[in-house]
Amino acid sequence: MPFRLLLDCDPGLDDALALLLAHGDPDLELIGVTTVGGNVTLQNTTRNALRLREYLKFPKVPVSAGAAGPLTRQFRDAAHVHGAGGLGSVTLPEATLAVTGIHAVDFIIDTLRATPGAVHLVATGPLTNIALALEKEPAIARWAASFTIMGGSFTRGNATVAAEFNIWADPEAARIVFDADWQVTMIGLDLTLQAQANSIVVDRLSTLGALADDLIVPLATFYFNPNVPDWDGQAVHDVCAVAYVARPDLFETRPARVDIETTGEFTSGMTVVDFDAPSPNAMVATRLDVNGFWAYVETVYARVAAEHTG
Ligand code: BDR
Ligand code: CA
Repeated sequence: MPFRLLLDCDPGLDDALALLLAHGDPDLELIGVTTVGGNVTLQNTTRNALRLREYLKFPKVPVSAGAAGPLTRQFRDAAHVHGAGGLGSVTLPEATLAVTGIHAVDFIIDTLRATPGAVHLVATGPLTNIALALEKEPAIARWAASFTIMGGSFTRGNATVAAEFNIWADPEAARIVFDADWQVTMIGLDLTLQAQANSIVVDRLSTLGALADDLIVPLATFYFNPNVPDWDGQAVHDVCAVAYVARPDLFETRPARVDIETTGEFTSGMTVVDFDAPSPNAMVATRLDVNGFWAYVETVYARVAAEHTG
């Protein structure tokens, strides 16, 4: 039986690559996509999710739009990283199918309620939808089979020195999510920066044909970040969070207490990670089997690419 997966995302270059993995891995069953404003506006993240769904041919998977911006703060995007539309240099055909018409928050609640213990929830954008869902129905924390995020870090930030983008974008939401009655698996920057699409990986991906030429490689090679020490290629942050559900054996995790800084003048959005705390609320990913990860991802992408007809 595949793991049933509900993905809350803000596509986004690496969100798109995460969607591709969730759709392509036969050990995962993507049962819904919810969108949130983050990397770009909600309008654009939703539009990208809809376009990807049709381009990659999973039209039956429902897409629901959610929160346009953070709980209390001004919306701040990452269009300088992901491009104005959110998918870098990739322009996909306009979608013909629409969103469900159900708000993402209700979609998340209804989906988890329908089969308690059976759906793995993954969030790869700001945590606004998840926080709103928890506020409306705290029992989702019990109903989710697991909850994994891409976000946070225990050493460094990327939106600021202290804060990773998804947490920095809506720290109040992140605090609600980490304080809820579940164990968050935090796939943060310390882990995801190990998953850089370097030239060797890109060369291998480039052999996969039209899907690689038109989507995978452009998504994985759009930006260069001079601030990342030992830059070797774009990190596929969000892909790691989806990969964790199917292949936890590729990850080392440690229990920790994670608290979210919401008021710090210089540290707002920081994940304060205490590996020695007596009452952990999270499993924090520390180390990736890099070769195993890329072997897995490339196998799944090759499978989708072989069936892709454009
Ligand atoms: C995270 O921020 C976004 O820009 C990416 O899509 C990823 O989810 C990395 O910090
Ligand atoms: Ca994202």
